[in-house]
Amino acid sequence: MKLGFIGTGALSAAIVTGLKTLPGETTSVTLSPRNEEIAASLAARFPDVHVAADNQAVLDACDTVMLAVRPQVARDVLPTLRFRPDHHVVSLIATFSVGEIAEMVGAVQRVTKALPMPMIAIRRGPTILFPPDPVVAAFFGRLGTAIEVASESEFDALSVATATYASYFKYLETIHSWLRDHGVDDAKGRDYVASLFGALGQAPEITPDASFAHLAGDYATRGGINEQVLRELSEHGTFDRFRESLDGIHKRITAAS
Ligand SMILES: NC(=O)c1ccc[n+]([C@@H]2O[C@H](COP(=O)([O-])OP(=O)(O)OC[C@H]3O[C@@H](n4cnc5c(N)ncnc54)[C@H](OP(=O)(O)O)[C@@H]3O)[C@@H](O)[C@H]2O)c1
Repeated sequence: MKLGFIGTGALSAAIVTGLKTLPGETTSVTLSPRNEEIAASLAARFPDVHVAADNQAVLDACDTVMLAVRPQVARDVLPTLRFRPDHHVVSLIATFSVGEIAEMVGAVQRVTKALPMPMIAIRRGPTILFPPDPVVAAFFGRLGTAIEVASESEFDALSVATATYASYFKYLETIHSWLRDHGVDDAKGRDYVASLFGALGQAPEITPDASFAHLAGDYATRGGINEQVLRELSEHGTFDRFRESLDGIHKRITAAS
């Protein structure tokens, strides 16, 4: 595979870092020159990673191209580029459907949509992709877990889960700042929360047959402190509001695509 990226920002940097820190990895990677600093630092860090003169030079040097620009930039830039029919286009642009991307890339026969997460930099976490494609699945499978989905509506529903990262960290920050306000050393509190939730994150893998509802029940010992927090948050409508937010994101994603 000769891999190219149109758009060298946070996500491209994470994918290239995950790929190029694999032992013995020799895939040729051509980056578009924006962002200049990120592209230059990736090229300096890894062999077989080069920065092209412009977006067209990326296309001319690769057979598989990942689109990693913001949606508005994609609308402006993609129709001006000359794609070959044999290019395999992998769009990472969350808000565009496969059909919309296909319209912007001319004669290209093969378009796949993929949604990785930033932890791909350390080869952890899932990447969903549609339509199922063995080459893209193998690529992302080396960088974490590749999940092929059967329909764009399933892809859109799974995408909603990626809107929850910031709230997750706010949840952890609430615990951390509460600890700090109660005399716990800042670094110690951060380490404690990080280690605690890192370990809890393993629970679904350790007990693969347990649903999340079952795990919540397991940890909410009757009359215990976990049951109290769960009950109070539930009574305040916290989880109902959270679901409403998910509904809102789903509407936004499906309206966009
Ligand atoms: N970050 C994530 O975790 C994530 C996850 C899933 C999907 N996505 C999707 O991936 C895409 C990229 O996200 P990102 O977080 O990597 O965004 P980002 O950090 O803003 O990167 C986008 C890059 O595109 C560059 N760019 C701007 N105009 C360009 C042009 N005309 N030609 C080529 N490159 C150009 C920008 O360069 P300058 O800095 O010079 O403007 C920037 O470095 C988005 O569509 C997003 O929806 C991101």
